[in-house]
Amino acid sequence: MAGQCPIATDATSPTGCPVSARASAFNPFEGEYQIDPAEALRWAREEEPVFYSPEIGYWVVTRYEDIKSVFRDNILFSPAVALEKMTPSTPEAQSILQKYGYAMQRTMVNEDEPDHMARRRLLLDDFLPENLAKHEPAVRALTRRYMDRFIDRGHADLVSDIFYEIPLTVALHFLGVSEDDASELREFAVAHTLNTWGRPTPEEQLEIAENVGRFWQTANRILDRMIANPDGEGWMYETVRQHFKHPDIVPESYLRSMMMAILAAAHETTSNATANAFWTLLSNPEAWDELCQNPALIPSAVEECLRVAGSIVAWRRIATADTAVGGVEIPEGGRLLLVQASANKDPRHWENADDFDIYRDNASEHMTFGYGAHQCMGKNIGRMEMRVFLEEFTRRLPHMRLKPGQKFENLVNISFRGPASLHVEWDPAQNPERRDPAILDKSLSFAIGAPVKDDILRRVTVRAVSDTGDGVKHIVLQDPRGRPLPAFTAGSHIDLVDGGFRRKYSLCGDANDTSSYEVAILREEDGRDGSKHFCDTLKAGDSVQIAGPRNHFKLDEDASSYVLIAGGIGITPIVAMADRLKALGKPYRLHFCAKLQSALPLLDRVERDHAGALSLHLSADGSRLDLDRTLADLPDGTQVYACGPERMLDALEDLSDRWPEGTLHYEHFSGGAGALDPSVEHAFEAELADSGLTVPVAADQTLYEALRSAGVDMPLDCGEGLCGTCEARVIEGDIDHRDKVLTKQERASGERIMTCCSRAKGNRIVLAL
Ligand code: HEM
Ligand code: FES
Repeated sequence: MAGQCPIATDATSPTGCPVSARASAFNPFEGEYQIDPAEALRWAREEEPVFYSPEIGYWVVTRYEDIKSVFRDNILFSPAVALEKMTPSTPEAQSILQKYGYAMQRTMVNEDEPDHMARRRLLLDDFLPENLAKHEPAVRALTRRYMDRFIDRGHADLVSDIFYEIPLTVALHFLGVSEDDASELREFAVAHTLNTWGRPTPEEQLEIAENVGRFWQTANRILDRMIANPDGEGWMYETVRQHFKHPDIVPESYLRSMMMAILAAAHETTSNATANAFWTLLSNPEAWDELCQNPALIPSAVEECLRVAGSIVAWRRIATADTAVGGVEIPEGGRLLLVQASANKDPRHWENADDFDIYRDNASEHMTFGYGAHQCMGKNIGRMEMRVFLEEFTRRLPHMRLKPGQKFENLVNISFRGPASLHVEWDPAQNPERRDPAILDKSLSFAIGAPVKDDILRRVTVRAVSDTGDGVKHIVLQDPRGRPLPAFTAGSHIDLVDGGFRRKYSLCGDANDTSSYEVAILREEDGRDGSKHFCDTLKAGDSVQIAGPRNHFKLDEDASSYVLIAGGIGITPIVAMADRLKALGKPYRLHFCAKLQSALPLLDRVERDHAGALSLHLSADGSRLDLDRTLADLPDGTQVYACGPERMLDALEDLSDRWPEGTLHYEHFSGGAGALDPSVEHAFEAELADSGLTVPVAADQTLYEALRSAGVDMPLDCGEGLCGTCEARVIEGDIDHRDKVLTKQERASGERIMTCCSRAKGNRIVLAL
């Protein structure tokens, strides 16, 4: 358990804490970690989320929030060790490196502040979405040319036939390096990975040192040509020009180290990520087929592949002062291995964390690109390449299949993950372009950057519609092909999308039955949100779209007892919570209120399943729920969950002032955000402390929109201040709160803002982003 010494072995950590048997046995250079790092650390995510590994001398961090919080603070957790050799060079290997004049110093990824941010900002322009779009046609042309070479062959090793080469060519093009130099650079990349993140034997080190030395020399030769003639196009030329303009910020030694590092950063990361994505998709043929039929899903599939099979599975930091991570003490100088692959499967952050779901609309919150001030600058190049590959392959080779019986062979190391080969096969006679050559000219164009969440929608069929209470329709949805839908937890909702309307509804069916989803929709006469449309038009057999499930109203399953309060249609998330508590055998009371009995939706089901815990309160017959009395003496450790009309929730919030913090949890029906009126609003600036950007927010723009257009990957869900997804931490500046998420105390503390709707009161706000 975090913060306590686990069951001990003889080994102790640098803080004197005994090391558990599993932590002692952990070796990232062998066994399960090399095959599936997230699986290898499942025990740690559950039992010992931050542990000391004597084998590597690192503190291993495995949960999403802990990893994000370390990435977030690059002063306390310096990236200085990001490229440190996991296996120190032998004296023999060192003398080989000296022979080549190898003088690698800090580069962007492992530099400390303030140098890092000054350089990053100076060199960021070429990476911005608007400047990357111009590279897409070249990526597409290359992909088509490479595919032409094997399309009629019926089989390929996708790694050696295409995925290794194209990201290298694209990287060279982006950097401005001539393709003639590519052959020399190609052989050295593997050496760099092993040299930095591997565990080579002393003999292997000799060969690696030769290759690294030659890589260094080649990179320097290319750079010398650029310095002599700095007018060329490409990021490296731009860096050289910045060196001439600002030699203090971009010194020559920096140029030399960066030249070598950026090639590795841009090439293998993307080659591996692409091979992993194809491996994952082809191992899930239903997902692959779905993508072939609906290529609009490609951007979200790319993010889901980066989540479940990223090419960087762990990254490193070093603590610059005594501190704690996840409640575990870390001494100054403590090295941290942040296992992003594990964060990407942490069920505390992800619904159905182990499932591969190309409809997962928050997949882009994965940690594969890191986070914060050092977050990958090239992430949108990697994404763009992966999307083009998938677009071309799903159109030209939808019948391609993984060759059975092959093993995922990875270079033994702690950070880079990707198969050495990926064999696929297909019947060339079935190639769609033989029947319809016009498909060759087709292409989709996705906006550069993380996918837009609202575009990620799953098609479902309405199985049944029935009445349940006054003006309420009970709607049952199922997969069109009868496949299971993703599992959901109590309190989850889906977005229902149809006829131009999009609205959130809590799932109120049996969470153990994934053959369908159930929602209950109140037809609101004055509703702006489409409830009338859904209630009046949906009928069995209709096809509609949904997003989710997502859960912003999670049930804490560790409380000792529960009071559940539902007002009218507010029963929908509450009944799912009651189901769960009943299944867990936890004590709970369920108060269900409305004016009239006929306004109690799902009453039959609630009475059937929860009769023993249920109290009905009907104001029309004098049994109105007296919150004051009902909640007067809450036993210690009780949690209150409520959903219903504003009035009821406001009264509960007032009452909750008397309870320990965190006792009350509630969900509103509606938010407070409306369209922005620029004649009423004012513009302001958002300063981003973690990434060093200053983002102007126009009067008719939300803070969220401004952040997104500056290239910051912010999650968004409701877009109207209801769900808490778009939260950011505020370091400085007064907030004009317009959300329904934060409690009174949280608002007063001025430390958090919902970026989708709330704004700065003044001209400036500083965010921890
Ligand atoms: C940094 C992953 C593609 C350039 C990083 C980091 C990771 C990463 C994990 C460290 C983040 C941190 O410390 O918070 C990836 C993955 C890629 C990819 C998974 C492909 C799928 C690229 C490409 C380029 C690139 C194509 C360049 C063309 C960089 C640079 C940094 C970086 C310059 C250093 C940023 C800084 O420290 O400020 N990348 N990368 N990456 N990446 Fe990428
Ligand atoms: Fe839901 Fe902002 S996105 S509160």
